[in-house]
Amino acid sequence: MTITYYGHSCFMVETVGKHLLFDPYITANPLASHIQVSALKPDYVFISHGHFDHIEDAVGILQQSGATAVCAWEVMGWLNKQGIEKVHPMNTGGKWNFDFGMVKCTAAQHSSGMPDGSYGGNPMGFLVKTSEGTLYYSGDTALTMDMKLIGDYHKPDVALLPIGDNFTMDASDAAIAADFIKCNNIVGLHYDTFGFIKINHDEAKAIFAKTGKNLTLLGIGESMTV
Ligand code: NI
Ligand code: MN
Repeated sequence: MTITYYGHSCFMVETVGKHLLFDPYITANPLASHIQVSALKPDYVFISHGHFDHIEDAVGILQQSGATAVCAWEVMGWLNKQGIEKVHPMNTGGKWNFDFGMVKCTAAQHSSGMPDGSYGGNPMGFLVKTSEGTLYYSGDTALTMDMKLIGDYHKPDVALLPIGDNFTMDASDAAIAADFIKCNNIVGLHYDTFGFIKINHDEAKAIFAKTGKNLTLLGIGESMTV
């Protein structure tokens, strides 16, 4: 699978010929001003929770691409109000077999509310299993013991974890999370975008290196293959 970073928590994952976009927040991110949002044509748009920095570009991209949104039931209600009908609602602990593989919604220790103030349901992460491998996108979350279940039963090949601190885990907690989920290949997210989450990249990488794990910090627009 190929993973392309679009800044903050937004990634496009290309696997088995399908394009899966996670948490689109590009237009309002000054660090991602070189990304052309109108060119993004995913098949699916995953939304981990309702906060603006995860959903800002969702409606526009869903409209231009005809993609299916995958999100909590309550996030679906908000999308419906914006005129988006192609939604697959899920909730924490549930799984579904899509045409690219299996998706299981994992617990995220965070909060969720929609941009209009309505209830956003549970924040979630997504475990994506295809014939090309297993990817874990944790969403905004604290370090939690629930992550040990992912290590015991799923062992992802690559995991996309927050490292920015203040609203989520920092790099130290993310390194513990990497241990819990039994994954050596971590890609950082949710850092540098706002003042509260600016981090030192070398320090974050050193924390992972000390545990024998790799932290990749992709440039915005950069891709990697797993
Ligand atoms: Ni959030
Ligand atoms: Mn966030």
